[in-house]
Amino acid sequence: MKLRHKIISSFILVIAVLSIVNILSVVYAINHNQEKRLQEEEVLFAQDLAARFVRDVVEDKADALTDALFKDKKLREEMIEYILVFDKKGYLLSNTYLEAIPKQLLKLNNQFARGENFRLQKIVNRKVFVYDIAVPVREGIEQVGAIHIGFKGIYILRTIKIALASALVGVLIIITIAVLFGLFISETIVSPIGKLKDAAAKIGAGSLKTRVSIKSADEIGALADSFNRMAARLEETTALMIQAEKFEAIGRLASGVAHEVKNPLGVILQGINYLEGNIPSGNKEASEVFQLIKDSIVRADNIVRMLLDFSRVDELYMRPEDANILMDNSLLLVQQIARLENIEIVRDYQMGIPKILADKSRLEQVFINLFTNAFNAMPGGGRLTLRSYLCRFDGSVYEGDKIKKDFFNPGEETVAVEVEDTGQGISEDNLKKIFEPFFTTKGPGKGTGLGLSVTNNIIKLHGGIIEITSQLAKGTKIKLLFKVARSE
Ligand SMILES: Nc1ncnc2c1ncn2[C@@H]1O[C@H](COP(=O)(O)OP(=O)(O)OP(=O)(O)O)[C@@H](O)[C@H]1O
Ligand SMILES: [Mg+2]
Repeated sequence: MKLRHKIISSFILVIAVLSIVNILSVVYAINHNQEKRLQEEEVLFAQDLAARFVRDVVEDKADALTDALFKDKKLREEMIEYILVFDKKGYLLSNTYLEAIPKQLLKLNNQFARGENFRLQKIVNRKVFVYDIAVPVREGIEQVGAIHIGFKGIYILRTIKIALASALVGVLIIITIAVLFGLFISETIVSPIGKLKDAAAKIGAGSLKTRVSIKSADEIGALADSFNRMAARLEETTALMIQAEKFEAIGRLASGVAHEVKNPLGVILQGINYLEGNIPSGNKEASEVFQLIKDSIVRADNIVRMLLDFSRVDELYMRPEDANILMDNSLLLVQQIARLENIEIVRDYQMGIPKILADKSRLEQVFINLFTNAFNAMPGGGRLTLRSYLCRFDGSVYEGDKIKKDFFNPGEETVAVEVEDTGQGISEDNLKKIFEPFFTTKGPGKGTGLGLSVTNNIIKLHGGIIEITSQLAKGTKIKLLFKVARSE
């Protein structure tokens, strides 16, 4: 059964049950009320007759009585079925029947106890329902006869019927309102649920951009909001997965191309060296051209090497190494550039920190990458600060990233290395992309965009963490966390 039908039918069921209870109580109330009225008013009427007829009863004046009875009955013809007068012995003295009197009326009890002033009973007379009110006819305290007045039950039934008819009309109106209300409720609950169901089906079928638009401040609105958030998250994660696959494909392609290009480059370089040796010395123009060609070959070779680094997931040669020494070694290679570019270098090392487990040459490659990036970010000069210190891993910072959690335990001792520059900084948008292979803001021919993605791979292979914080026009800080080498 559909939700809409369930809501409406339960509304109707509840209303119907309530209505039946209501009608039954109305009928009971009317019935009760009528009996009370009979007791209060009609018993008085009967007692009045008894008082008026007492002489005639004692004197057995049947004719006079019959006349009087017919007159009284005629006044209230629509209510009164019969009036019967019995004498002291219980014989019928007079009655209002023109035809033969129904036999059962002759058997009515006519004896009243002392203090008993009336008796009310329901009887069925000639298949119709009658309220019979009986009162004693008394002379002084002695009972000299009895009077029975039959009130037509149909008269009371008619009142009940009228009440029932209006109650039924009321019930119909209430049921109609209930159905409309049910439709309204189901519209506000069922149709949003239907929308959510359709949206879920669409997302399931692959259209991840699907969202539901339900604007309401209640739980349904909140449900729609959570649904949309979930859909957005799903879209994001799927995009990331697709991107990861793309990177892998790029890596394979890059390594393929690099291998193919590397050997011819070597041949070209050898050829150039050979040709250079064969030109007469002093030909300045020719040696400038040769130098230009050789520079370009070295550049191309660098790019090829970067590509190979990027795609390589080699085994590392891990040994306990001093992070300070690794940084100093790398610094030696780029110091000249720093001097030319007017860059001050500050070494803020913690001495005697524990060694880290590292592949020396790979890590030096990382530092050179980071230093070069920093130099490039400070074209007009600046300050490069290198820091190292021992710290405890604060697990909470990295929660949610499984890889990071796998390598460090909260509270574990780690060696931190920081490379901080006072350069131009990285915009928030770019910060999300800097680890992507080939992402570069440097002009064509100036950067491959592979430096940080190679760095990231190497750090991950070391089981370390790389974190970048940056502020535009202020500078960038790159923090690396390494495992402490256990001395066994
Ligand atoms: N210290 C830094 N300050 C400002 N921007 C930086 C810094 N380090 C990296 N970036 C930004 O990140 C981008 C990517 O850096 P990455 O090292 O991966 O490539 P690249 O430096 O552009 O190229 P390559 O490393 O091949 O020379 C850079 O182009 C630059 O925009
Ligand atoms: Mg770089």
